[in-house]
Amino acid sequence: MKLNKLIKYSVLLAIPAMGLVSCVSSGDNTGIEYAPNMYISQGYEPFSQESDKITYNPHNMTMRLPVNGTIARGQSTFIYPIENNADGYEASANYTSWIAATESNVEEGKRLYDIYCWHCHGKKGKNDGPIFKEKKIPGPSWPNYQSDYIKDLPEGKAYHTITYGKGLMGSHAFMLDPEERWKVIHYVKSLAYGDDFKFAPESSSDSEMNGNLELPQTSSVSFPGTSEEKASIMMAMSKVEFKAFPNRKVMKSGSAGNLNVIVDYLKAHPDYKATIVGHTGVTLTEEGAATLGIDRANEVKNYLISKGLDTGSLSIRSDADTGMDGDVTSSSDRQANRRVEIEIYK
Ligand code: HEC
Repeated sequence: MKLNKLIKYSVLLAIPAMGLVSCVSSGDNTGIEYAPNMYISQGYEPFSQESDKITYNPHNMTMRLPVNGTIARGQSTFIYPIENNADGYEASANYTSWIAATESNVEEGKRLYDIYCWHCHGKKGKNDGPIFKEKKIPGPSWPNYQSDYIKDLPEGKAYHTITYGKGLMGSHAFMLDPEERWKVIHYVKSLAYGDDFKFAPESSSDSEMNGNLELPQTSSVSFPGTSEEKASIMMAMSKVEFKAFPNRKVMKSGSAGNLNVIVDYLKAHPDYKATIVGHTGVTLTEEGAATLGIDRANEVKNYLISKGLDTGSLSIRSDADTGMDGDVTSSSDRQANRRVEIEIYK
């Protein structure tokens, strides 16, 4: 009888106990989940492997990784070219902001500062936030933002510190995107300088890209010589004419001599380079226009080489104009479109 009672009670107690235990998740044990669809998505997770289900991507991945060396549109500012080491910190002094310190940008910087920074550095940058005040971690060696240290600190070094962290300050890169980092830095400087802080006019626009970043320049080559030299080169090029169909890629007789101006100029400036750009004048398919443009550019290039220019300093390109400038029915307009142009640069 006594034993029976014991069994009865232990069973009664065991049921809720089991219930409690099985709900607890830990380690690899997910426990018992109520309505698991709320936790585990039915859809595929990005960049996950769905072994046999996905056959069209390498490694059965749900998404393909970006091609090595490519940058997604709008993400170019995420590239910070300076390394996280002592030399990098010194080099960062020359890294400059591409976000203007307008009042609205500084205001946004304050909003972000009041989320991510104040609990250490204090609302006004007096290093009296609760974490420093309660000595959870020791504060910086400088007393506050109003000290010369922060006033004189190059903005690039502040960017480096926010990106990678420094000493007991951790990296804030995953909380603040590059534009936000600059906005916060402008706010830090505004706290440092107080009334002496100079706002940029609201109309000033942010630069397109970080000016420090050396990406290859493909367009907007600047002519290294004088404007008179440029004018004489353009004049000479405008006299270089091409034949009409069926010899479209051949220069008109007597035309090539005009290129001697270019030959002499480039010989006088051996450090200059040139790209010859072939254009087309009639409506062609894109492919046809590109091929004809290249053929014309090559014709000019071969002439320049035959006159002694170095092939290494000459490149060619086609501006595959599928339409034309001017009126298709006008023979002089058509002639004007059968042309090559030249870009000279250092
Ligand atoms: C956990 C506390 C903490 C937080 C949060 C924090 N900092 Fe710091 N910060 C520090 C400490 C500590 C240093 C001193 C680092 C050193 O020199 O070793 C420092 C240094 C700095 C410096 C000087 C950097 C340099 O190059 O010498 C700046 C500027 C700065 N912090 C700005 C910020 C901004 C802006 C935020 C918010 C995005 C922020 N901090 C968030 C603790 C913090």
